[in-house]
Formats: sequence, C-alpha cells, structure tokens
Amino acid sequence: MRSARAIAHSNVALAKYWGKRDERLVLPETGSISITLDALWTEASVRFGEGDGPDLIEVGGAPAGPSDGRRTLRVLDLVRSMAGFSGTAEVHCWGNLPLGAGLGSSAAGFAAIATAASAALGLRLTEAEVSALARQGSGSACRSVPGGFAEWLCGRAPDGSDSYAVRLFGPEHWDLRVVIAIVNSGRKEVSSRLGMRRTAESSVFYDAWRLSVERELREVRQALADRDLTRLGEAAERSAMRMHATTLGADPPFSYWLPATLAVLSRVRVLRRGGTEAYATIDAGPNVKVLCRPQEVGVVEAALRDVQGVEDVLTSGPGPAARVLPA
Ligand code: PMV
Repeated sequence: MRSARAIAHSNVALAKYWGKRDERLVLPETGSISITLDALWTEASVRFGEGDGPDLIEVGGAPAGPSDGRRTLRVLDLVRSMAGFSGTAEVHCWGNLPLGAGLGSSAAGFAAIATAASAALGLRLTEAEVSALARQGSGSACRSVPGGFAEWLCGRAPDGSDSYAVRLFGPEHWDLRVVIAIVNSGRKEVSSRLGMRRTAESSVFYDAWRLSVERELREVRQALADRDLTRLGEAAERSAMRMHATTLGADPPFSYWLPATLAVLSRVRVLRRGGTEAYATIDAGPNVKVLCRPQEVGVVEAALRDVQGVEDVLTSGPGPAARVLPA
C-alpha cells in the first residue's frame, strides 16, 4: 500500500522571511529563523493509487480551497516525478490550528504533506530534501521539517537546491515559551503570499527591510546559542516591527493589525516595565506571540487575557521535527 501518515508542528519566525526572489520555486530574498511550536500541529495522510482520476485533497474534512489545493498539488507532483509514479493521490489533513490566521497552519500542513507523501512513495529523502519539498508548498513550512530552532538558508542556486531549513538546536536546547494572544482566528484578508509580493514590488521600505535582516539573523543565532532572552526578544521584536512596517509603505498600503493587536503590544511593554521579560512577534495576521520564560507564563497569560479584544490565549514550548507516524 502506497500510503503514509505524518505529523508536523507549526513555527513562528524569530527573524522573519518576507519576500521571494523566485515565486514559482518559493525562494526567499533573505534567510529566516524560527521556533517550532509543540502545541500547534497538523497531521496529513497521503495515499497513492493506480488510476488516473483527479487527486482528492481535503483539509479538516472539507475540500481544500483553491490556494491550498494548488500548492498541495505542486508538492504531490514533485513527489510523483521524483518517484516516477503517475497515479492519483488522496490527501487528508487535520489538526488543531485555525487556517490562514497567521498561526502557521500552512507551515505545519505542508511540512506534514511533504513528509507523508515522500514516505508513501518510498522515497528515501534527506531531511534537507523534504524541507525543500515542503518549501514549495509554503515557504515557512521548510522550517517545520527539522523542527526545534530552525534556520531557513536563503541559498543562491537558481534551482533552489540550497534553499532549505536546518536545525540550529533541538527543542530540548532551551525551554522557551511562546504565549499566543488570539485576537482573530478568522482567515486574513491579504494572504502572506500576496502581502509579501505587494510589499516587495511597491513598498518604499522594502530595501531597508532586506538590508536589516542579516544583522537580526546574527543576533538571533547568537541569542539562541547563549539562551539569552533579552537579546533574542529584542531582535525578534525588531524583526517583526520592521516586517510589518513594510506593509504600511506598500502601494496600496495595508496592515495585518487590528486594534487589539496594538493593545497587546502595549501590554507587553507594560509587562516589561514591571520586570517580566516578555517580547512580542507577529506574523501575517493580527495575533501576537509573546516570548517569555516558563516561570513567567502565568503572569503573561493573565496579562494578555485581560486585554480587550483578546479571544483566547494559548501557550507552547519548542516543538519537534516533522515525522512519519505508524500506519
Ligand atoms: O510561508 P508563508 O507564505 O506562510 O509566509 C510566512 C510569512 C511570515 O509568517 C510573516 C514570516 C515567517 O518567516 O514565517
């Protein structure tokens, strides 16, 4: 039976990826670094059969939307061509993540699909190869393949063969916590793909952003190596604020933030003034992820729950690599 099931966890970038140098191959303008989130995951089951009918792609029990469907098909086609197989595929994904809300549903989803699909056809790929495959579903997905604290290497090769994620440290390296303030779990109006394209094409701040990334990558790598929360948090906040600043400089301008996003950011600053080390980062959506130490999770969770407009708060530690599950 050509089938396999895999699980992958979502991730949040500490040094952000924002903009592609090649849209088709999903090659980034810059490197990026993330922490994998243990608490947020997606499972994918992939089964290949002989016929030549259409592929079936379901997410959470319903047919995948056009964008998810098209990107899943791309990953399936790559796997089929590597294996020299031409039959149909049936893909089911489910998990505990709202879709398209900037909580990493596509990162977890495509890491799980790439892992399951390559295993189903018996391809013996390296972790880097699975990561490069996941990248072509969704860029940030490549970082969920090695898990832990991962760096997506920007790469230079025009075919993308050197653009994949590597594990800088496993999840056991640092028991950091990410407290997530959910401000809106609905699908965002501007997808990350369109948001980064519009920004790269038209934002007057985009070049400044690109030039700022190398320093943040160095800062984040060093802070992770030293388990230095102050250095990590400050770099992660700068990276997030600068990435979001590019959206305001785009034409037409846009923003992923809601009023409650700003209210959470302000509460994080109040926490810091009161001596709790907490630092915010935001992906392509209005929800805020706050980095802190395990012993301060209770204080941070209570402070975020108290902010008007926060619907829910959930906390995660660092998560593992994507993996194939027993049949
Ligand atoms: O890979 P995508 O299309 O989900 O884009 C991710 C973009 C950000 O989440 C904003 C940044 C990042 O590095 O994950």
